[in-house]
Amino acid sequence: MKARAFLKRTKKCGELRIEDVGNEVIINGWVNKRRDLGGLIFVDLRDRFGIVQVVFNPTENPELFAQAEKLRSEYVVAIKGVVGKRPGDTRNSNLGTGDIEITAREMEILNTSKTPPFVIKDDIKVDESLRLKYRYLDLRRPEMLRNMYLRHKIVKAVRDFLDNEDFLEIETPMLIRATPEGARDFLVPSRMSAGKFYALPQSPQLFKQILMVSGMEKYFQIARCFRDEDLRADRQPEFTQIDIEMSFVERDDILGLAERMMKFMFKTVLGHDLETPFPRLSWEDAMNRYGIDKPDTRFGMEIVDVTEIAAKTDFQVFRNVIEGGGVIKGIKLPSCAGYSRKRVDELSEFVKKYGAHGILPIALKEGGNFKSPLAKATTDEQKREIIEAFDAKEGDLIALLAGKADFVLPILGKLRLEMGNQLDLIDKSKFNFLFVIDFPMFHFNEEENRIDSEHHPFTSPKTEDMHLIDTDPLKVKADAYDMVLNGHEVASGSIRIHSKDLQKKILEIIGISSEEADQRFGFLLEAFDYGAPPHGGIAPGLDRIIAEICGKNTIREVIAFPKNTAGDCPMTGAPVEIEDEQLGVLKIKVKK
Ligand code: AMO
Repeated sequence: MKARAFLKRTKKCGELRIEDVGNEVIINGWVNKRRDLGGLIFVDLRDRFGIVQVVFNPTENPELFAQAEKLRSEYVVAIKGVVGKRPGDTRNSNLGTGDIEITAREMEILNTSKTPPFVIKDDIKVDESLRLKYRYLDLRRPEMLRNMYLRHKIVKAVRDFLDNEDFLEIETPMLIRATPEGARDFLVPSRMSAGKFYALPQSPQLFKQILMVSGMEKYFQIARCFRDEDLRADRQPEFTQIDIEMSFVERDDILGLAERMMKFMFKTVLGHDLETPFPRLSWEDAMNRYGIDKPDTRFGMEIVDVTEIAAKTDFQVFRNVIEGGGVIKGIKLPSCAGYSRKRVDELSEFVKKYGAHGILPIALKEGGNFKSPLAKATTDEQKREIIEAFDAKEGDLIALLAGKADFVLPILGKLRLEMGNQLDLIDKSKFNFLFVIDFPMFHFNEEENRIDSEHHPFTSPKTEDMHLIDTDPLKVKADAYDMVLNGHEVASGSIRIHSKDLQKKILEIIGISSEEADQRFGFLLEAFDYGAPPHGGIAPGLDRIIAEICGKNTIREVIAFPKNTAGDCPMTGAPVEIEDEQLGVLKIKVKK
């Protein structure tokens, strides 16, 4: 019997340095690459901590050399050898271990590997479905390892920070009664109560509020949430929130906490100093200036309103729109006055996708030439006023859009983002945080012809708007807020309702009758009868924050085992059909 199972490592590949020269070490890892050069074999051995070069010399040890000839990429090996200094011209300054190499003395092949379907290295051009099918190989790539490492460090920083702020980490159930968060629920059939279903939580919303009634005062959870909705780059059916709730607080206490948490996270994980406080922007200002409730403030190009000036011109199209209650707004595209007719048409094509007729261009040509279909209908004074409003200069192009404000603004917002990208105006090294506050309490759901909550129905209206609830609910602002990072909504939260009567009234406005409320949320309403403290919270989306930190444009890059955009797991094949027998136990029959 062997005295030991295998040659166990005494050092990690990535940690070997010039100080180790002369020492005998054992390393374990994967063959990153084998090169046969000048009669020698070089093997780059990789473990989680890095890569080190191993040399096999045929004259020193022909048997070992013959064994090394068998090595292929991703074989798992244990190598005993002596650390030596690399000859001057072969040093590799890109590698932490680049000053040294190991001369092999003994080797054990711990496992072989088939040729991987893609090379284990960064910047590979491989179909994502293949990467997801072989995720265990994909995760071996340094870039993915780094993403997982940062994710771990970020979660640890969050836990350290919140622990230090007296928060308690409390788990809430995964099998719950459905609560409305705006998406569709994933349902789980109950065997013991056949015919009945649990829902997976879209978020721990009601449980965290009940924990406040329970007197926990400061709760957090790294909470998995499940939502059956259409997937996008920044949406997964299961994702993670840093779920937070606090008692005896007002909005600014929660925003301050979120700010300090981000500052701590960026400092400890990246060594980056975030400037606080983050700017606060009302929802209305965000919409007026950026045409979106999650503005990317890494570049300017803000939306400008020229309705008043346009109303004075003889341009009939604009005047008609304005008389019909519409507005004239636009953005300035710096140094784009030289755009060809085709390029200008492309701008119109872009806005047409969203239902607009097209843009009205103003090109500020050389010598103050105002080139635009608007030119003949405007006086010099009006031209000057428009140029001033946009703070435009020779060489700029202005794109105007006419229509109702809530129609024009989101389209200009999209055009702004598109052109910001096309013109390369976005500084990718920035982390621009801001809070959007004072969201509307409700919006009108045209499709279903009813009023819906903008955030969720447990959000409190702003105190100063309480008087409008019965008379003009769509004018009521909510004590709700979002945290935005580089144009992504990375957190959302609100001050909650803690009175039963107000809660019932809000539910009624969104079409949930008193009886239905008692039936669905009786437990929460009843809890409010037993001394519910004022409370509020926030839930940063962990995956989105990490993706932004890692500079990735999809959260799939920072989740170990994500689903693809169809909601499938290419590695395990989930979801799958279930045998009739198993369904039978649940009293379920699938319609074919
Ligand atoms: P909300 O639904 O806005 O609020 O979610 C909070 C944050 O979670 C992230 N997020 C997602 N991330 C990945 N995939 C998804 N499908 C997904 N959906 C949401 C976003 C978002 O800002 N209970 C409330 C919070 C509260 O009121 O305290 C809630 O869940 O970053």
